Amino acid sequence: MRRFVVSCAATAMLVATAARAEEPWAERVIGAHIDQSTLSGTLDAEALEVLRDAGERLFVGRFTEADGVGRPMATQAIVPTKRKRPPAETFVRSAGLDAGSCAACHNQPVDGGAGDFVTNVFTSEGFESADFDSLDPQFSNERGTNHLMGAGLIELLAREMTADLQAVRAMALKVARESGQPVTQALETKGVNFGSITAGPDGLVDISGIEGVDADLVLRPFSQKGVMTSLRQFTVNALNHHHGMQAVERFGARWTGEADFDGDGKANEISDGDVSAMVAWQAGLEPPVRMQPQQPAWRDASARGEDVFADLGCGECHIPALPLASLKFADPGPLDMAGTLREGELAEVIYDLELLEWAASLPRNEKGEVLVPLFGDLKRHVIADQEVAKLGNELLAQRFVERNVFMTAELWGIGSTDPYGHRNDVTSLDGIIRAHGGEGRAAREAYIAAAERERSDLIAFLKTLVIEQ
Ligand code: HEC
Ligand code: HEC
Repeated sequence: MRRFVVSCAATAMLVATAARAEEPWAERVIGAHIDQSTLSGTLDAEALEVLRDAGERLFVGRFTEADGVGRPMATQAIVPTKRKRPPAETFVRSAGLDAGSCAACHNQPVDGGAGDFVTNVFTSEGFESADFDSLDPQFSNERGTNHLMGAGLIELLAREMTADLQAVRAMALKVARESGQPVTQALETKGVNFGSITAGPDGLVDISGIEGVDADLVLRPFSQKGVMTSLRQFTVNALNHHHGMQAVERFGARWTGEADFDGDGKANEISDGDVSAMVAWQAGLEPPVRMQPQQPAWRDASARGEDVFADLGCGECHIPALPLASLKFADPGPLDMAGTLREGELAEVIYDLELLEWAASLPRNEKGEVLVPLFGDLKRHVIADQEVAKLGNELLAQRFVERNVFMTAELWGIGSTDPYGHRNDVTSLDGIIRAHGGEGRAAREAYIAAAERERSDLIAFLKTLVIEQ
């Protein structure tokens, strides 16, 4: 009962914020900030909708100086970093600012979707080198824009899988301590294997057998490299990188001692509640669907192609579906680190994705778990080798993940998001399949050896995995 009262009050506050008197021609996106303290508990359907609408406005709106666009005295680095002097231009294609809005890149075929080659981003982690003005791959890694449809389900899967892996580690440590013997345990969750871990009786852990995930066993499902933890973390990064819109939770007084860290004359540009609204909108985006082709020939070919996909071993990494126990999306989530708002730093807020219309259409297993049809494993793999080297094109390791290692791209929506590959520079599905080296090499060779008819059926199948418009 109490929760109901809380969220009604929250709705009223949110509506008031959203509708605050503002001249419709005002040259800014943010009329009034969302107040995080109006959010608590599990939001009801109405409060969630109001919050998501506010988030959508922030995602599609083109920010202006009145909002706080620009970071004359700060770089795009993820950790707040000062520039030595302001850049000659506010917008610079290489190190940013590089767009007016999030949706300027994420819009294929709908807002929240992917983007063409022209929307590529130049990512660099260095602090000193963040301010590069060259597209030379010595200075940054060039990445294509991937879509965010179903992103809430992806983050929830990663949280559950992380909890499973960390439980394996805790159990291994306990058994090793009790038995006085080293214990080796397979790191498995939802049918995906992440190698193994060995715990010693002295409490030390041998991490050399871990595969495809960081040593802390946290699955980081975002970015094509698989190195970003949450929608919240990514949103705070992206706001600063692309727009010079700095979130208080990272760039505000708490961590930097300043309310206007980027020195553009605008203090506290993005509130905690604004970030929450953007997260809620992204987390609730409808996942891609499997389209039923009108033409009987395409229907038949895609049915055969689904078998080809399994036979060639594509499904070993692009696992058709993973089970998800809960659709309750806590924001902030359990895995973020300092610099992104963390669990326990404020009242818990939950976006129950079950309340969204699309949730009912997802298949479930006998345990009632949702089967998330992502066609992925949220694991990183070596995807280039000496002979098939196309995808080993980056020159800078990110977070010390090897240069030829990327996270399995989720294939849901693949029929709507060409071109392909992490640099968005492969024009056909046939081309990107042929570009799989490393751990994907065997599947690639099987594809090349298959009959032309089978290859065509496989493409027919992949083209049914679309983002609904
Ligand atoms: C200039 C183009 C561009 C703009 C503007 C942009 N993005 Fe992105 N976005 C990208 C690219 C490129 C990637 C892939 C990055 C990578 O793999 O390293 C990405 C990835 C993401 C991801 C991770 C998706 C995944 O599955 O890995 C999220 C979340 C995201 N963007 C949110 C945002 C938000 C929120 C904004 C606005 C504040 C925004 N983006 C603005 C290009 C853009
Ligand atoms: C060893 C794991 C693995 C196997 C097996 C595998 N893939 Fe992939 N796949 C990946 C990874 C990793 C990527 C991301 C590559 C990159 O960095 O661009 C990818 C990317 C893709 C893409 C491009 C996605 C995008 O958004 O641009 C397609 C399409 C694809 N794979 C299809 C297939 C098909 C079809 C097969 C079977 C013939 C297959 N894959 C087998 C790991 C695998």
